Amino acid sequence: MPLSRRRVVAGLGAAATAAPVSPAPSTPLDPVAAPAGRGPHQLARDERFWREVARQYRVSGQFTNLENGYYGITPTSVRYAYRRNADRLNALSSYLLRTTYKAEADQVRERIATLAGVDKEEIAFTRGGTEALQNLIGGYRLLRPGDAVMYADLDYHSARYAMNWLKDRRGVNVVRIAIPEPATAQAVIDTYTRALDQHPRVKLLLLTHANNVTGLALPIRQIAAAARDRGVDVIADAAHSWGQLDFNLTDLGADFAICSLHKWMGAPLGTGFLYIRKGRLHDIDRAFADETYPADDIRSRVHSGTLDAAAVLTVPAALDFHQALGGAVKQARLRYLRDSWVHQVKDITNLDILTPDDPASCGAITSFRLRGHTTEAENTTIARYLFDHHRILTVRRGGPAKGDCVRVTPALFTLAHHTHQFATALRDTAQHFRT
Ligand SMILES: Cc1ncc(COP(=O)(O)O)c(C=O)c1O
Repeated sequence: MPLSRRRVVAGLGAAATAAPVSPAPSTPLDPVAAPAGRGPHQLARDERFWREVARQYRVSGQFTNLENGYYGITPTSVRYAYRRNADRLNALSSYLLRTTYKAEADQVRERIATLAGVDKEEIAFTRGGTEALQNLIGGYRLLRPGDAVMYADLDYHSARYAMNWLKDRRGVNVVRIAIPEPATAQAVIDTYTRALDQHPRVKLLLLTHANNVTGLALPIRQIAAAARDRGVDVIADAAHSWGQLDFNLTDLGADFAICSLHKWMGAPLGTGFLYIRKGRLHDIDRAFADETYPADDIRSRVHSGTLDAAAVLTVPAALDFHQALGGAVKQARLRYLRDSWVHQVKDITNLDILTPDDPASCGAITSFRLRGHTTEAENTTIARYLFDHHRILTVRRGGPAKGDCVRVTPALFTLAHHTHQFATALRDTAQHFRT
């Protein structure tokens, strides 16, 4: 039975306003440290440990949240740090911003760079991944009329818009390719290398490390190497991967990259950064002819105006939380949760799982499609059905050449019993929408 939009919207609204939240500690909890001597895979399945981690989050008890791909809910230590920083900012006002803020922010920048395995001079803060992508794509200086740029159907929409804009702005051709479905690492590498060979005028390639539609993690280093061999520069979109997957920025093999800090790093909304490898700075324009910083300072590649300084100053609390668990443990747990529901629904005959099981190709995010349901409207209805009938929040995503899908994204506060609940709900949903 299709549900009326009004009923669903009303249902979501009611859940949002009347939602009780999980019992929250009245004081911030210290980040939970991964116990020494236990490997990530062993720890990934220790529900007692993850219940402790889940206590760090204040989440609605009205529904099961498997839609954690928009941004990351902050753990309690980060929420309290953010409050303290907001209070301090309000108390000191512009005095803070005009005296110590720049030096404090620069220490935060140093901390991020160290964790990412790069130099402080190679990164600059942005308000998130989108701004960083826009500045790199819009600012890339080496394009000449008649050149081409390339992206894929599963790249982030804002990045695709910015790439399309280059047609008018730089007079280049825009080549769009489709990621193969089903995707395997080799099929993806072959698709990119074939496309690069077919389009020798391509000078700039956008690669999304973990996309926001199916969550597929690209074999990005190999593709970037193939691009480099052909004289093609790569912008790596690691907005969704840094913090979800365990890697260093230099592992990506790209001279240009971007990260969000408010997704899997758990920092407050409004935090991210761009990366430009040393020696490549002059291939990206200053942002809107910035004059605040010298042209050889990467900070001149971002000009955001007045921003939420409290969010920036809270990033270290988020990195503390991340590092207490460790990137490898987070990655193992998120993959475990993803595998847990996927393996329980493998036998459903009208269900396609769009994200490969290969551990190198996935993290938390995985999408599914019910056979015969490929439109936006159908997949919106399926996500609504999951919410209305099972109180499980997921989201429709579009982009794949073969049609829309529903994205499922557990988080660090997701417990194994949520994945069982979801598997049961999906079985009912698949039956309900069987064509
Ligand atoms: C793959 C990808 N790239 C970039 C972005 C943009 O990041 P932000 O939300 O930090 O602007 C997103 C956001 O969801 C994303 O999924």
